[in-house]
Amino acid sequence: MDNQYDILYQESLMESQNFWEKQAKKIHWFSFPENILTTDEDGMHRWYKGGKMNTSYLALDYHVLHGRGQQIAMYYDSPVTNTKSSYTYSQMLDEVSRFAGVLKQKGITKGDRVVIYMPMVPQAVFAMLACARIGAIHSVVFGGFAAHELTIRINDARPKCILLASGGIEIDKIIPYKPIVDQAIEDAYFKPECCIVLQRDFLTCDMKPGFDEDWNELLATAIPAGYEMMDSWDPLYILYTSGTTGPPKGIVRDNGGHAVALNTSMEYVYGAKPGSTFWAASDIGWVVGHSYIVYAPLIRGCTTILYEGKPIKTPDPGAFWRVIEEYGVNTFFTAPTAIRAIKKEDFSGEFYKKYNTDSLKHLFLAGERTDVATYEWAVNLLQKPIIDHWWQTESGYPMLTNFAGIQLHNTKPGSAGKPMFGFDIRVLNQDHDEMLPGEEGAILIKTPLPPGCLPGLWNDNERFVSSYLQEYPGYYFSGDGGYKDDEGYIYITGRIDDVINVAGHRLSTSSMEEIVASHSAVAECAVVGCHDELKGQVPVAFVVLKQNSDISDDTIREELIFSVRHTIGAVASFKIVHIVDRLPKTRSGKILRKIIRAIVDNVPYQVPSTIEDITVLDEIKWKINQQ
Ligand code: COA
Ligand code: AMP
Repeated sequence: MDNQYDILYQESLMESQNFWEKQAKKIHWFSFPENILTTDEDGMHRWYKGGKMNTSYLALDYHVLHGRGQQIAMYYDSPVTNTKSSYTYSQMLDEVSRFAGVLKQKGITKGDRVVIYMPMVPQAVFAMLACARIGAIHSVVFGGFAAHELTIRINDARPKCILLASGGIEIDKIIPYKPIVDQAIEDAYFKPECCIVLQRDFLTCDMKPGFDEDWNELLATAIPAGYEMMDSWDPLYILYTSGTTGPPKGIVRDNGGHAVALNTSMEYVYGAKPGSTFWAASDIGWVVGHSYIVYAPLIRGCTTILYEGKPIKTPDPGAFWRVIEEYGVNTFFTAPTAIRAIKKEDFSGEFYKKYNTDSLKHLFLAGERTDVATYEWAVNLLQKPIIDHWWQTESGYPMLTNFAGIQLHNTKPGSAGKPMFGFDIRVLNQDHDEMLPGEEGAILIKTPLPPGCLPGLWNDNERFVSSYLQEYPGYYFSGDGGYKDDEGYIYITGRIDDVINVAGHRLSTSSMEEIVASHSAVAECAVVGCHDELKGQVPVAFVVLKQNSDISDDTIREELIFSVRHTIGAVASFKIVHIVDRLPKTRSGKILRKIIRAIVDNVPYQVPSTIEDITVLDEIKWKINQQ
């Protein structure tokens, strides 16, 4: 073993309890766990049984008590509203304690669920931390999702209360949130007891008397609330994410393992020292936002940035570099699609040159694979280490990465690096045999998963087992494919299920298919992901119409696009619909989606001998060429 990474990684696998006990000692516990690793009543692995702590305390109170009260905890920068503000750790603690008081006053207690449907405003962060403070379980829903998606989450999480803002701004377009929430509640069979509404200056919404409460009015008379003593295993949040089939999966995150894992990642992966400035340009509606806008930077005593804007058009492709200069960002994290958007608008880096980005040490990318062209463009421009790292909502932090906090081994373009501590990552074929270097297979992780990874799905243990643990016993099935090279670097090649990644947003093609199939003129359909220069992937639908349908192709296209936008949300970027005579199928009638995917992406495929009629493929190819 020749370097610190190898030593630590081997220890994390061979002496995992010892390794994770040492990491646990780096955060503050009211009572240190009785066990490092054990199993729960369902036989699932669980970390840090009996530990007493509070995540909001770790993020705020601890730092105020240890001399960071006057340090800026969070900058808020909103080019879309032309607003900037900052909060010290003491001010954040005050805001969070008072909002925790509001929640308590509304009868919300430990274990109750609270749905948060808000744009990137400081109150959304206060709300998450306020829930954590009193032990309520938050479930943030991304603002780009439509009412129907919100309804699904309300029915599953059964929140006592919904927190929302009157609206958000997408570049220059005002998005009213209140009608979406009203519709979602009307359609849900589970009814929350109240809504707390943050009225924004640019948009005031109507309030339902006796049900909607004004955020600031409640805050004005709130009594600050103290922190609840939480058990390590108590859930901190539920975050819904797309699965292959069925409704979104409610990923549960516990308190103890999450805090330890995030702190460990800040030290070793990001090399982020307490007091440094850490910026994840994501959205609190996604796991990156949960982990690296809110919890990790604050637990680590860093300064975080809440940016309500885009990489381009707010106002120009220099937006990110402006923020980096203005706040002296040391570690920056964004999605490859954002870099591609900047590259497209400022290829020669004219906007980049306007700013001083000397403070920046590393750029981390995740959400989708960083393509080599984007990687090389960014390295040339920034002349700094650019680190692609792989993770999922389920893990909550990187599973493959390079390590800025220890010696940084070579980054290899196209690879997401080596396994994070505690992740024993294997590439297996369908017979569960390990693949040789360079051979592609399914990416699996040997259980137990390390601390911080999902202990289960909300109220659905059976689905947890069937989705992740059943197919390859003894392993967690990631849903991604890839290969290892002979130095142990892993390359993620993409999903091997029906999940697609659109501008870093994880979406299910089967849920789009369901919507398309429900149109009265549609006989059958297939929706697959198609490579897109900017967004990585976009959905493409192939639709066969019913024989007697007299609807025009243009009308059906418009109606299907409207339906998906209206049901899932604009974020699905569902814009391409091909009307075809037939879909490729096996003789038993199964649609050959894998082949459609390959044709769409122009990659080689094997035609199965069971195909009903091979000539069907010609029409698909022709349509793609016309696209
Ligand atoms: N609320 C409401 N609508 C939203 C939204 C939100 N929070 N986020 C996106 N949308 C809408 C957009 O307005 C757009 O609507 P339109 O079809 O009416 O124009 C649609 O959803 C698609 O948005 P988006 O995917 O953002 O595409 P875009 O073309 O507007 O912008 C990028 C392209 C690359 C600039 C943008 O996707 C981006 O900044 N990506 C980074 C994503 C990211 O950070 N992901 C983090 C995951 S780690
Ligand atoms: P999400 O749960 O929304 O974070 O999406 C997780 C999925 O995004 C993973 O299963 C991958 O398919 C993809 N993904 C995330 N990061 C990377 C990366 N660095 N390289 C390749 N794919 C990635």
